[in-house]
Amino acid sequence: MLRGKPIGVRVPSASSDYLDSAWAEQIYYYRQRAAEYDQWFLRKGRYDRGDEHTTQWFKEVEEVVAELETFSPYGDVLEIAGGTGLWTVRLAHKSKSYTVVDTSPEMIEINRYRLGITPVTYIEHDVFTFEPDKQYDFIFFGFWISHVPSERFQEFWDRLRSWLKPGGSVFFLDSAKTPMSTAVDHVLPDEDDCETLVRKLNDGREFKIFKIFYRPEELTAKLEGLGWEPRIMQTENCFMYGSAHTKA
Ligand SMILES: C[S@@+](CC[C@H](N)C(=O)[O-])C[C@H]1O[C@@H](n2cnc3c(N)ncnc32)[C@H](O)[C@@H]1O
Repeated sequence: MLRGKPIGVRVPSASSDYLDSAWAEQIYYYRQRAAEYDQWFLRKGRYDRGDEHTTQWFKEVEEVVAELETFSPYGDVLEIAGGTGLWTVRLAHKSKSYTVVDTSPEMIEINRYRLGITPVTYIEHDVFTFEPDKQYDFIFFGFWISHVPSERFQEFWDRLRSWLKPGGSVFFLDSAKTPMSTAVDHVLPDEDDCETLVRKLNDGREFKIFKIFYRPEELTAKLEGLGWEPRIMQTENCFMYGSAHTKA
């Protein structure tokens, strides 16, 4: 846990000790944040940037949802880092089977409550050690790719490839780099090569997490380099989103 000035920190060159401890801090942070997580998406409390912004935010959410809907019905779905279920609730009832993997039992509990009687399989696991026992038609993750350090980017996408059925798709969305997206007391690093930043909870505790803001063209090039066919877009202010398929 960090104390002090909220500044961006560059990730030092490959040090697995560093990576492992920062990774553990990120997992712990999200466990602690579970109960207040939805305030961010709903633009409440420290994330309230005024009515005009909130209206725009949800207009942009609907733009992402419209693209997401083009994949419905989704078949056998894996949601990575499903959190409190803000997206699970939109997708699960249009799927043949639905599995959520997340490291936080607190997030999973809220997700389960939100989903009610909709059948969802919850797996409390780190996505980097998760070994599914089947393949999926559709893999979804919201606000997750920004938390994967660049050192683990290729491994992550290799894992996704092995989890997809032939012809399957990945869909994701994440934050565009705008201070309006985060809390009023968070500071975004100016530098583009920063991989971590400091996040606060409502009680003032501070944690260092990975956060990489991708521009669509940058992520497109990275994924093409790994043999994917991506289609990545950005909404006017708030979100980067899109899909990717493995090349036939
Ligand atoms: C930014 S939240 C996104 C939640 C949800 N996808 C959404 O869009 O609202 C990140 C989620 O990743 C989970 N998480 C963090 N580290 C993880 C890991 N190593 N493996 C799987 N899930 C992880 C957290 O518990 C949290 O629920």
